[in-house]
Amino acid sequence: MHHEHEVERRAEVGEGSPLWGGPGEGLIVPGYRRDHVKVDPPGDFPAYRGTIARHPKRPLVPIPDMLTEVTGPLLGEDRIGESDFDLTAGQGGEPQGQKMILHGRVLDGNGRPIRGTLVEIWQANAAGRYWHAWDNHPAPLDPHFEGVGRCLTDDEGRYRFVTIKPGSYPWGNHFNAWRPAHIHLSLLGRAFTQRLVTQMYFPGDPMFDHDPIFNSVREPADRARLISTFDWEATTPEWALGYRFDVVLRGREATPFEEPDVSGGAPG
Ligand SMILES: [Fe+2]
Repeated sequence: MHHEHEVERRAEVGEGSPLWGGPGEGLIVPGYRRDHVKVDPPGDFPAYRGTIARHPKRPLVPIPDMLTEVTGPLLGEDRIGESDFDLTAGQGGEPQGQKMILHGRVLDGNGRPIRGTLVEIWQANAAGRYWHAWDNHPAPLDPHFEGVGRCLTDDEGRYRFVTIKPGSYPWGNHFNAWRPAHIHLSLLGRAFTQRLVTQMYFPGDPMFDHDPIFNSVREPADRARLISTFDWEATTPEWALGYRFDVVLRGREATPFEEPDVSGGAPG
């Protein structure tokens, strides 16, 4: 641990320095904030049963990004519909449940905004049911709530969604397993290889202590950054509760991220 901190401190010396110093000074490596390496959950977390079969059993082979990985077709800003940020709109009627506003900022490790990044969310409905073939538990589907939305961050890195507060749902991980209420988020950068996926939770959820996915993020301080805050300012009278969730991509305050979800947002 001591060693890690040494490296971290050294890495920050010279932050923002030019790449080359004056005559005779040679190369000056620009400083950067060292990533907090244990922030993300381990690939193998036995209490979360799904990880047993899907984590890599051998060391990963780094494959350098070539042109194919860093270029290629992207969604394009014009493909995002004007009401895609509103999960309660355009579905033939009002969905059931407590309306809420989810908003926040996407920031880099130095607190600078990440502009124009695609933020996508998916979630269960108010009864805790996903619109998904694998979710067959006896809670009602809502014909007016599909549970997916997307938007781009603005110049300040802000995003905003209007949605319904999701319910807890049971899953087959262990006896009487229920997930805390959560919303899945995906962030896409400028290439398909730049995708980060995480889940946000709600303050004070009684399921936190019982949920192996939440607890697969090992440090309490890191788990705390997965919990949104109730936002009085964003709360709109007679209409919706506000919750704020900032996403930090790197550094010691980084948001814990999952591996890309190969199941495509299935229950879990
Ligand atoms: Fe989920």
